[in-house]
Amino acid sequence: MDLKNLHFVFVLFSTIGCCVGQQTTLVNGIVGGNATLSIINPPSPLPSFATAVWVTSQSGQRVPVASYVNQHVKFGPIYDGRATLDITTGSLQINKLTLTDSGPYDVTLIFSDGTMLPQQRVLKVYEPVTAVSVTANVTSAVEFNDTVSLTCTAQGSDLFFQWFNGSSQIMPSDRVSLTNGNSTLAISSIRRYDRGPLKCTVQNVFTSQSANLTLDVSFGPENILVTATPQLKPLTSGSNVTLNCSAQSSPAALFSWAVNGNVLKDVGPVYKLDNVAVDKSGNYTCWAYNGKTQRYAASQSVQLTFHEKVSNTKIVGPSTPLIAGNSSANLTCQTTSGSLNTMEWQKDGRPLVPSSSVTISADKTSVFISPVQRKDHGEYQCKVTNPVSTDTAIYRLNVTYGPEKAHVDGLEAVEVGNLVHLDCVVEAAPACNFTWKLNDTVKAVTTSKYIIESTAYSDTGSYTCKAWNVVTGMTAWSQPHTLTVNEKGTLPEPLSGGAVAGIIIGVLVAVILIAIIAKSLMKRRKKKEECCTNTGELAECPSKSCTNTGEQAECPSKSCTNTGEQANAADTES
Ligand SMILES: *[C@@H]1O[C@H](CO)[C@@H](O)[C@H](O)[C@H]1NC(C)=O
Ligand SMILES: *[C@@H]1O[C@H](CO)[C@@H](O)[C@H](O)[C@H]1NC(C)=O
Ligand SMILES: *[C@@H]1O[C@H](CO)[C@@H](O)[C@H](O)[C@H]1NC(C)=O
Ligand SMILES: *[C@@H]1O[C@H](CO)[C@@H](O)[C@H](O)[C@H]1NC(C)=O
Ligand SMILES: *[C@@H]1O[C@H](CO)[C@@H](O)[C@H](O)[C@H]1NC(C)=O
Ligand SMILES: *[C@@H]1O[C@H](CO)[C@@H](O)[C@H](O)[C@H]1NC(C)=O
Ligand SMILES: *[C@@H]1O[C@H](CO)[C@@H](O)[C@H](O)[C@H]1NC(C)=O
Ligand SMILES: *[C@@H]1O[C@H](CO)[C@@H](O)[C@H](O)[C@H]1NC(C)=O
Ligand SMILES: *[C@@H]1O[C@H](CO)[C@@H](O)[C@H](O)[C@H]1NC(C)=O
Ligand SMILES: *[C@@H]1O[C@H](CO)[C@@H](O)[C@H](O)[C@H]1NC(C)=O
Ligand SMILES: *[C@@H]1O[C@H](CO)[C@@H](O)[C@H](O)[C@H]1NC(C)=O
Ligand SMILES: *[C@@H]1O[C@H](CO)[C@@H](O)[C@H](O)[C@H]1NC(C)=O
Repeated sequence: MDLKNLHFVFVLFSTIGCCVGQQTTLVNGIVGGNATLSIINPPSPLPSFATAVWVTSQSGQRVPVASYVNQHVKFGPIYDGRATLDITTGSLQINKLTLTDSGPYDVTLIFSDGTMLPQQRVLKVYEPVTAVSVTANVTSAVEFNDTVSLTCTAQGSDLFFQWFNGSSQIMPSDRVSLTNGNSTLAISSIRRYDRGPLKCTVQNVFTSQSANLTLDVSFGPENILVTATPQLKPLTSGSNVTLNCSAQSSPAALFSWAVNGNVLKDVGPVYKLDNVAVDKSGNYTCWAYNGKTQRYAASQSVQLTFHEKVSNTKIVGPSTPLIAGNSSANLTCQTTSGSLNTMEWQKDGRPLVPSSSVTISADKTSVFISPVQRKDHGEYQCKVTNPVSTDTAIYRLNVTYGPEKAHVDGLEAVEVGNLVHLDCVVEAAPACNFTWKLNDTVKAVTTSKYIIESTAYSDTGSYTCKAWNVVTGMTAWSQPHTLTVNEKGTLPEPLSGGAVAGIIIGVLVAVILIAIIAKSLMKRRKKKEECCTNTGELAECPSKSCTNTGEQAECPSKSCTNTGEQANAADTES
């Protein structure tokens, strides 16, 4: 079939018209790609056809694409070399697609029996998405101030724009608008969180490409925070304190400092206070400034209080001796340094309790005692505390009194040659000086004890002692104490203190033992082989041993009795 014939066929079909009751299906292709236009729902089995003709129309002109007539395949000039026609199915494949290939494609199959199958395919050739880019009209935005407009541009046909903030799609909202077919994103009153990356995705049926942009959004300064090292607590003068200031700011903030509202020369996030003096106490504030946003912000003021350690604490008391019932004393607690001191008084390790005679001043710096009494004697402590230290001073308050109630303690009768202690007992403070008299003769003894190593008859007489308190200036005479020195053997042997104690213990033990034994004997009346005990004296025990106070005595052959009970009947009677 020649071209003329082919043309005839085209004319024929064009006059027949198409599209009456036929099915059309859109076929998409991409520039440079392939598209296959196939017969939809062909009769099955497909009878062989005698003629197949594909035509398209461009700018209203019908353009031949491919035909199979008289068993010859022919292509239109635009498609020659890049199209194939399947003569068993009638489907058409076009390669190296161009945008102008888009359009309706009509096919008519004429089968051997003369029946016809007209169909239409619509080919849509797309340009792929390329050259996607995002630009912002503000390169450096200021938070809350700026409205930023982002434009997404791309090459390609039938473009579809989407914006993503991180992974979530951006939808229009009160601050966000999408215009120009969603290719322009405008964010008003920009926030630091809007920085992105903000991604523009452009797609059409076949392809998709993205570009992103991260906005530079200046913000702050905010949350100005001062930390002190060592951490805030009462600080000791002389220590080193470092204040550190931080802020949320982009770009980084500049820092400066103020004390009690006065701006300091020091600039920078770190403010060092070395070897601080007490007068550096105050309220410290850090100021932060962002040059981009042109905003200032201050930290909360940090109150630093420096205290000097308490030192040289002492108690100043009366300089003259204190006489009980007579003098008064004013104890004052002094300290050379320290601030915010609190004082606390103790006497002999316990809190000092005010009384009718003891007054603690309202500021607790002094204690006034009037009149001073014997019980006021003791160790006074003043404890000075401030937030950083404690210091204690001790004062021994000596109350003087007496001598009072002088009397002589000692034996009144001794045998010649014995040792004698006479004791001059007296209540006094401080200790007294003593003198002794025998009858009216002053003796050489000047201590409270008058000791005669070995008495002579001439030691008989009336002893008196005089106690003299150097501090109070008072003296006291004891009542006379008569000592009689007797001949040897005229006095009963005096029991020593140890012997007396021994007897007392022995009696007690015996009483307890009796009680125990009486009880056990009641129980064991029939048992008669045991030895016996008694309360004190060991009875004659010729044959059998026995105990009294628990000790076993030598009693080899005889039993004994205690309070009448017979214990043993081995070889003798009770
Ligand atoms: C298009 O078809 C040609 C020939 O059939 C083939 O070589 C090529 O790989 C195809 N291209 C695509 C993208 O399918
Ligand atoms: C950027 O675009 C927004 C929205 O169109 C506009 O309000 C703003 O003034 C623009 N900013 C600059 C610096 O041009
Ligand atoms: C723009 O985006 C919105 C929200 O995603 C969507 O509803 C709308 O159809 C889009 N408009 C265009 C022209 O793509
Ligand atoms: C972007 O996402 C952040 C949270 O990740 C959100 O705070 C911000 O408002 C978003 N900005 C826009 C423009 O969607
Ligand atoms: C943003 O784009 C750059 C290349 O332009 C790419 O390397 C990066 O992964 C993208 N980031 C995101 C979050 O899409
Ligand atoms: C304080 O710092 C100075 C040096 O600046 C140093 O000599 C001194 O020992 C420090 N004092 C303390 C208590 O750490
Ligand atoms: C420091 O601040 C505190 C309260 O924050 C205030 O009571 C004090 O008077 C201030 N000190 C000075 C020196 O301004
Ligand atoms: C931001 O806006 C405020 C008030 O609208 C204005 O006073 C300020 O100067 C602006 N800041 C900058 C950096 O433009
Ligand atoms: C005790 O001494 C202090 C300091 O000298 C003085 O202030 C105070 O008034 C005195 N108290 C009495 C009760 O005299
Ligand atoms: C009180 O007596 C003690 C010991 O006798 C002495 O150490 C102290 O200094 C005396 N106190 C005064 C205030 O004289
Ligand atoms: C009082 O006795 C002390 C020793 O106890 C002595 O040192 C002092 O000299 C005596 N005083 C007089 C005035 O004898
Ligand atoms: C002391 O007086 C008594 C009674 O007058 C007398 O017996 C005694 O011998 C006198 N002693 C001395 C040492 O004079």
